[in-house]
Amino acid sequence: MIFGYFFEKQCFNKRLPIGKLLLPVCLTIILLSTLFVFYLCPENGCAISALTVSQYSRYRTLSKFASFKRLSTNSNQNQANLTPNPTLAERSKKLSFEDVLSDNSSVFDIKANDVIVFLHIQKTGGTSFGRHLVKDLNLVNPCECKKGRKRCKCLRPDSNAKLWLFSRYTTGWKCGLHADWTELTNCVDSVMDESEKTVTKRRYFYITLLREPVARFLSEFRHVQRGATWKSSRHWCGGRTPTSKELPPCYTGIDWRDVTLEEFINCSHNLAVNRQTRMLADLTLVDCYNTSIKARKLRDSILLQSAKYNLNKMAFFGCSEYQKISQYLFESTFKLHFMHPFIQLNETHSSLMRDEIDENLLEKIKKINHLDIQFYEFAKQLLFERFKLMKSRDSNFEYNFSHLGNLGPNEERLLSQQNLETFPEFRILKKIERQKKKLKALKQKKNRSTLYQNKSNIEPAV
Ligand SMILES: *[C@@H]1O[C@H](CO)[C@@H](O)[C@H](O)[C@H]1NC(C)=O
Ligand SMILES: *[C@@H]1O[C@H](CO)[C@@H](O)[C@H](O)[C@H]1NC(C)=O
Ligand SMILES: *[C@@H]1O[C@H](CO)[C@@H](O)[C@H](O)[C@H]1NC(C)=O
Ligand SMILES: *[C@@H]1O[C@H](CO)[C@@H](O)[C@H](O)[C@H]1NC(C)=O
Ligand SMILES: *[C@@H]1O[C@H](CO)[C@@H](O)[C@H](O)[C@H]1NC(C)=O
Ligand SMILES: *[C@@H]1O[C@H](CO)[C@@H](O)[C@H](O)[C@H]1NC(C)=O
Ligand SMILES: *[C@@H]1O[C@H](CO)[C@@H](O)[C@H](O)[C@H]1NC(C)=O
Repeated sequence: MIFGYFFEKQCFNKRLPIGKLLLPVCLTIILLSTLFVFYLCPENGCAISALTVSQYSRYRTLSKFASFKRLSTNSNQNQANLTPNPTLAERSKKLSFEDVLSDNSSVFDIKANDVIVFLHIQKTGGTSFGRHLVKDLNLVNPCECKKGRKRCKCLRPDSNAKLWLFSRYTTGWKCGLHADWTELTNCVDSVMDESEKTVTKRRYFYITLLREPVARFLSEFRHVQRGATWKSSRHWCGGRTPTSKELPPCYTGIDWRDVTLEEFINCSHNLAVNRQTRMLADLTLVDCYNTSIKARKLRDSILLQSAKYNLNKMAFFGCSEYQKISQYLFESTFKLHFMHPFIQLNETHSSLMRDEIDENLLEKIKKINHLDIQFYEFAKQLLFERFKLMKSRDSNFEYNFSHLGNLGPNEERLLSQQNLETFPEFRILKKIERQKKKLKALKQKKNRSTLYQNKSNIEPAV
């Protein structure tokens, strides 16, 4: 898998003149690495989806080894070309959670060449988290956020050009709107070179947020119903954007406003379906957006497996449903601290709406999002495993965990500087409060009117 990605990256790197020569070789390798998945996944789907987290690490070692072996035995005549260009191979490195824990030279160093890359999946709470990243971290050199500007400058200490955060609110959507794993891993390095005007070896720390799939799907549905399209997303994969045949739109006209839930579910190529799995998988392993080459079951199992693999390789991921644990994990992984606690919203619009949804439709949503549901189960297990590990390494856990987002002695000064309104969750909280008040007022009004009616019923008799 990793090989598939690696060679793919080399192949389609436009700045590389030998890229053209390598292309046939690379395609063979990509084919082989996907073929290898065939071997692990006999006819009736893949057994990997049933693997537990701990089994998974063993599988990973095995898979790396197996793909390596297959590569080296099957492409002998091209052996020379397969040796990666050392400067490119060593240049950028992605650090995983395991890497960060394994030795302290892998801890995020804001002063060196380390970059946090935030992969923002729609409707997972990423907007709020993204703002915490730029406005709420307790840094020697806080991000510069100017009023009225969407983006902030997040520079390394003692630098006026070097960036440590690649995200919507710092670099913008430089790799495409809501760029996925396939797009980011293929693009971040060159964008960083460009914006810093220098070619450097960097270490990347990929992070993302996940959310319970049904809630996320419903949230996306409501967003689309209000007119969101994300149609400027590029879906770059395998060196090109998909054709309109590969990725047909679900609607005609400028957007899909006022779509019903049934129509939303009915569109078989709706990108909302299994979005989290797809956005975290290496899509080059499944022929990108061309679904007619691989059988559906095989395609699905490769997607799921690849998404799990990539998630496990991320330095950090959080779950919307576990804000406190996510915050603790972020802070202990990066040794960076937020000044405010993350807020757990239990009454989001989707969950309010969920009760009103037809049981059949709800079942259908679960059925079509089966990859995301399996993926999220895996992610939750992994989250708790990481949490347990971090907890066991923190001699001051009880205190630390109960004081997340507490500012210490500078609290009041810092709080007065912070505009609480900038965090969307505060706005949502206020909205919920307003809705509650409205509902209460409405009830009281009804109460009074029935009282009045009863009185008026009685009064004429007096
Ligand atoms: C971590 O760093 C300290 C000094 O900064 C060093 O003594 C120690 O051996 C390092 N530990 C590991 C696991 O690298
Ligand atoms: C998918 O790829 C196959 C083989 O390359 C091609 O025949 C087919 O037209 C492609 N499908 C779409 C929708 O582009
Ligand atoms: C959705 O698809 C089903 C079966 O394919 C069909 O019966 C139903 O009318 C469709 N609903 C809408 C709103 O398109
Ligand atoms: C926990 O507390 C100790 C001591 O106050 C501190 O050094 C450490 O950074 C804290 N860890 C986390 C993850 O907050
Ligand atoms: C969420 O629910 C818990 C208990 O059910 C409650 O204590 C907490 O205040 C709620 N949070 C919000 C933001 O409503
Ligand atoms: C409605 O009126 C009854 C009787 O006057 C009172 O007990 C109840 O609290 C009222 N409910 C609301 C929502 O105001
Ligand atoms: C008003 O009368 C209706 C029946 O006519 C009754 O159900 C309701 O409880 C009464 N409300 C109050 C506040 O007495």
